[in-house]
Amino acid sequence: MTMEKRKLTKEDIDKVRDIEGFPIGTDEDIIALSDPPYYTACPNPFIEDFIKEHGTPYDEETDDYHREPFASDVSEGKSDPIYNAHTYHTKVPYKAIMKYILHYTNPGDLVFDGFCGTGMTGVAASKCGDISKEICDSNSILWGARQAILSDISPVASLIAYNYSYCRDIDGFVESANRILGECEKELGWMYQTEGIANNSALHNSEFEMNYTAWSDVLICPHCSSELVFYNVAFFEDSGKVANVFSCRKCGAKLKKSDCNRAIYSYYDNTMDEVVTAIRQVPVVIDYCKDGHHYKKQPSLSDMAIIKKIDAMQIEEWYPTDLMMHLGEKWGDSWRSGYHSGITRVHHFFYKRTLAFLAKMNELIENENNPLLKIWFTSQLLNISKLNRYRPKVTFPYNPLSGTLYISSLVCESNPFIAYKGKIKKFADAFKGAKSNDNIISVCSATNLLIPNNSIDYIFSDPPFGDNLMYSELSFIWESWIKNQTNNKQEGIMNKSQQKR
Ligand SMILES: C[S@@+](CC[C@H](N)C(=O)[O-])C[C@H]1O[C@@H](n2cnc3c(N)ncnc32)[C@H](O)[C@@H]1O
Repeated sequence: MTMEKRKLTKEDIDKVRDIEGFPIGTDEDIIALSDPPYYTACPNPFIEDFIKEHGTPYDEETDDYHREPFASDVSEGKSDPIYNAHTYHTKVPYKAIMKYILHYTNPGDLVFDGFCGTGMTGVAASKCGDISKEICDSNSILWGARQAILSDISPVASLIAYNYSYCRDIDGFVESANRILGECEKELGWMYQTEGIANNSALHNSEFEMNYTAWSDVLICPHCSSELVFYNVAFFEDSGKVANVFSCRKCGAKLKKSDCNRAIYSYYDNTMDEVVTAIRQVPVVIDYCKDGHHYKKQPSLSDMAIIKKIDAMQIEEWYPTDLMMHLGEKWGDSWRSGYHSGITRVHHFFYKRTLAFLAKMNELIENENNPLLKIWFTSQLLNISKLNRYRPKVTFPYNPLSGTLYISSLVCESNPFIAYKGKIKKFADAFKGAKSNDNIISVCSATNLLIPNNSIDYIFSDPPFGDNLMYSELSFIWESWIKNQTNNKQEGIMNKSQQKR
């Protein structure tokens, strides 16, 4: 790295505060996320210094750059550990981007991506330093790292991009991650204990770790007003299929889900000091493991007692309570009035047990100094939230409907200890052996960049299109936890709620 480490001060931030896409967060939270000069969680005030350091001034008189248009197969699989460490709403495999960069640029050139998302362009620029015949074996290619300027309007995207460019203390990460899970286990492991099936003598009276609990909506029969547990009347556990038509267990009426209202209930949310009315759900299946075999059972009295104890518990640590998109009931185009009843704040997306775990884990991570822990934390948030559908016969146990905030009538509450343990190895595999590269990362809108004219050698970008994905709405859960939200005024999408048509 060539630029000296430095502090990001309030005065630095003042210089870029009016730049379009300046994120929603306090100066303290922006400073806490940043690692200046290479990464600031706001428009990066050091980009010009970076360009002076790395750029080659353009001179029309002497410049003899020429390339034929690039026309070649760039299809790449999506199984690479780097690609998969942290999901995002869409991604371009970095190996595909490398082919363009290798063709159009020379080592040391400056590459810019103003819609960088998770920063795959930055990974590609640095991987051009690792000769790989698998990517490209043309003799005209000049191998050698290029430097990237990465920018996106989304703070969480920038945080992921920064980690892909800079986070290299993998051993430290593995040690801290295991220690953090161990500390959470000591305090909260009891929440995920369940006893073996009563009619199986080998398992009876033993405690096991729960893999997941499936929850079902409760419906109201429109004919006799009795309550129907959706799972019991409409779900076939053996096939994983849902019946389109089912019978009311009390009056025998033939029903469709759309004929029925959902049962609702009210509870007092002591963190917000408000009464919340939400869809009533009940736990219907618990899955646990012994010696590699999965067992399923109905929740027992002791499982219900654990849930009751958690409901009565006060969570001491901070957790986010932001109103969805800061607009209360008017969330945005990802909101649906039926299945989002009672879900107006970010913490409503989690069962209380999950929330207690996350609040503890987040507090422990804040005491550490390894930014990779922060994206390890965000990497499983959606999988362990209520977005995770119960679909035991499909890819399991994580199954949110991508590109939406859809909450199913059958939700799988996954054990976060298992989710996060699994990710430690995936992160270690993705980041091991990676070299630190001089990329610079910024959060701002591509409508208002801090880049002087004639300073970029090549632009690779994968911009948003139409109403395909509502990035800021979909990143809302992640960004609430990192205390830095997308300022979506300039977000380049079509969205009725945001009046962008
Ligand atoms: C298709 S994604 C890019 C994904 C990226 N190629 C990757 O591999 O992760 C488009 C990105 O554009 C960003 N975006 C939308 N409007 C923007 C704007 N006005 N300025 C900068 N970025 C914007 C979104 O936050 C999103 O990350």
